[in-house]
Amino acid sequence: MMPMNKTLTTLALASAAALAHAGEIEVLHWWTSGGEAKAATALKLTLQKSGHRWRDFAVAGGGGDSAMTVLKSRVVSGNAPAAAQIKGPSIQEWAREGVLANMDDVARAEKWNELLPPVVADVMKYKGSYVAVPVNVHRVNWLWANPAVFAKAGVKVPTTWDEFFTAADALKKAGVVPVAHGGQNWQDFTTFEAVALGVGGTDFYKKALVQLDPAALKSPTMEKVLTTFKRVKDYTDRNAPGRDWNLATAMVIKGEAAMQIMGDWAKGEFIAAGKVPGKDFVCAPAPGTARAFTFNIDSFALFQLKDADKVAAQKELAKQIMAPEFQEVFNLNKGSIPVRMGMSMDKFDDCAKQSAKDFGDTAKAGSLVPSIAHGMAVPSAAEGAIKDAVSQFWNTDKMSAREAMDKIAVAARSR
Ligand code: GAL
Repeated sequence: MMPMNKTLTTLALASAAALAHAGEIEVLHWWTSGGEAKAATALKLTLQKSGHRWRDFAVAGGGGDSAMTVLKSRVVSGNAPAAAQIKGPSIQEWAREGVLANMDDVARAEKWNELLPPVVADVMKYKGSYVAVPVNVHRVNWLWANPAVFAKAGVKVPTTWDEFFTAADALKKAGVVPVAHGGQNWQDFTTFEAVALGVGGTDFYKKALVQLDPAALKSPTMEKVLTTFKRVKDYTDRNAPGRDWNLATAMVIKGEAAMQIMGDWAKGEFIAAGKVPGKDFVCAPAPGTARAFTFNIDSFALFQLKDADKVAAQKELAKQIMAPEFQEVFNLNKGSIPVRMGMSMDKFDDCAKQSAKDFGDTAKAGSLVPSIAHGMAVPSAAEGAIKDAVSQFWNTDKMSAREAMDKIAVAARSR
């Protein structure tokens, strides 16, 4: 039996040795709301448990536009963070700059190719090598409703756009805000893409908003989408401009508003507020989109560093993000579902179970579509320009749907 002081010394030496290889890494993300912050903390604790240190570089602003602006300035000044929340086609854009670290060694050791759906793995690779690690699968085409508010107004949660406007009229008469909305361009765009999917269908959505087909962008269907989209604004409140998305979710939580069209990071807010799915709130596919799934996959890219301890910490971060334990605790808090295949959904609620089922079913049926509003579908320049054109149309009553179509078609050519 080793004397006590010897044991402690041995432990101290062991942890000192471990710490000698402990690296501190700075991680850029924009998860600052209630649910997001809890999920981000799960990531930080996971890294710290492996002996490394997390330097938080949170840039507030839902949807990440501010975070991406800050990231660009940091990289241009030669001071890139160790890791950054970078998603979709932006991964390829950053990889083309030659600044991202190759993660193939971790991917091979952890068998990512067997654990990720091909639609996900492809987005994380550049020229066949992993340059980003996926965290989750968010579903964007959700409608979040407060059932007590709907019951009081004597209407049911809508499944079609006709039902939506009938319910919205009744809710307005009942004196509640029918639609909780935050007037920021990415939120307008999130509503727009849900209307496009519900009114136009998946084939139209793919042609117009993924392939940016000029004819589809200026079609009668697009005009109908824009007209329906603008009608939604009549059911938002006059304090919507500039409101953060999670404050709109709070309106539904408190019963001041009846529903919110938002991705399932909104569920993270209900859960963080102690609300029970199916009782205090319900999730429903955005009107007309029950057989479709708009995906938004959060991911982290690692920037090339020289310091060996930091590189070790980066690789540990990538490994841990795809590990089952993290995949469960993070997604339970974030409102998304695990991106790692084969995970047990036992601890997840019915909204998440529905999401997981629909993710698989829509992938097989061809109705799994990338979210243009959340950086999954088109190059970032086109996404940004279209997002601005859509918000201009939402914000002004002087622009017709036809004029908006012309602006969107021009914006789609941005590169
Ligand atoms: C999305 C992001 C989500 C969520 C949302 C609101 O773009 O992928 O994780 O945080 O923004 O900020």
